[in-house]
Amino acid sequence: MKVMIVGGGGREHAIAAKLKESKNCDRLYCAPGNAGIAQIAECVPIGVMEFDKIRDFAKKEQIDLVVVAPDDPLAAGLVDELEKAGLRAFGPRKNAAILEGSKAFSKDLMKKYGIPTAEYENFDSAEEALRYLESASYPIVLKADGLALGKGVLICADHAEAEAGVKEIMEDRKFGDAGKRMVVEQFMTGREVSVLTFTDGKTIRVMASAQDHKRAKDNDEGLNTGGMGTFSPSPFYTEEIHEYCMKNIYQPTVDAMAKEGRVFQGVIFFGLMLTPEGPKVLEYNARFGDPEAQVVLPRMENDLLEVMEACVDGTLDKIELKFRDEAAVCVVLASDGYPLSYEKGKEITGLEAFEGKKDAFCFHAGTKSGDGKVLTNGGRVLGITALGADLKEARKKAYEACEWVHFSNKYMRHDIGKAIDEV
Ligand code: GLY
Repeated sequence: MKVMIVGGGGREHAIAAKLKESKNCDRLYCAPGNAGIAQIAECVPIGVMEFDKIRDFAKKEQIDLVVVAPDDPLAAGLVDELEKAGLRAFGPRKNAAILEGSKAFSKDLMKKYGIPTAEYENFDSAEEALRYLESASYPIVLKADGLALGKGVLICADHAEAEAGVKEIMEDRKFGDAGKRMVVEQFMTGREVSVLTFTDGKTIRVMASAQDHKRAKDNDEGLNTGGMGTFSPSPFYTEEIHEYCMKNIYQPTVDAMAKEGRVFQGVIFFGLMLTPEGPKVLEYNARFGDPEAQVVLPRMENDLLEVMEACVDGTLDKIELKFRDEAAVCVVLASDGYPLSYEKGKEITGLEAFEGKKDAFCFHAGTKSGDGKVLTNGGRVLGITALGADLKEARKKAYEACEWVHFSNKYMRHDIGKAIDEV
């Protein structure tokens, strides 16, 4: 089979590495890819929002399956466009990708179907939101309705901060059109867990739990980022919690979407908060998480292409997922200054140390090739993942492997997986 991935970050490199292992994957393409993906797939210089070019390329090359990985093209309907042209695509259609694309939609869905989540109100105007916030209790959470690179969530300690937040989101449009609507949500306390799942619209199969580290600096300080590191599994996600979520959150979400005429096929990423009253949904994503995919996929034993085809064909009930007992930790190597301003184009050395390794992987996020070298090309540059007998060993190995790679403005957090020590 000829398979094409749309995307070009660490998540897509992890997907590419796994698809490459598939017995049925004869040729692998990636648009646009990056310097690491180029070592295992044919990269084509097409952007993820260039729908016509993606469709024309896939038609010309007779691609058997297009895997759409990032949120923006999913929310904008790339899967629908490809299907209209007679192509097979993995990922939710536009009417289902709204699960991530509109926070107001997902909150209303959860309310309608009794799926546990924080109390909330949706607002279409800043005026109404401000009126509501006058008598709200604090802290409170403001969320831009649409996609905002994971940055459209503000936790406000008091009324003054909330007023400033409404201005930022709805009046100044800091997150663009994502701020046309806004969700105001009760603040939840507890531990966050990410759970990645596959669904064909009827059956849901859970991959594994993971935990991200969103802040730029150690001890969860600094600005919000796309994610600075992950570990999997989460020791806080117990069998009992899993059973509860299966019954009250995962299957009900898939069934609710089907009942709404929005059959969801692809990956649902459940962002959960393990609150004192039980697990609640913080957010849904309609795709693999990044860097969650970089710890979950290396642990997966199944043939990823077979699982993706089962999602598209509606035969996921025939598949049981299998994961290695080994744990995984991923540390993101970033460009110093990320997520604000940082320099690019720095030479990366030491990458050959990962060649042939079965327990240490270097997933490229923001890299490009130039003059026969690999250069930095983004804020998050590489994801260094290691497998270990347990989380502590995986973490030790991941941090050791981080020292194999060099570039002049290399930056990382030093406390990825610190929570493991609490167990
Ligand atoms: N790591 C969070 C996300 O992918 O949205």
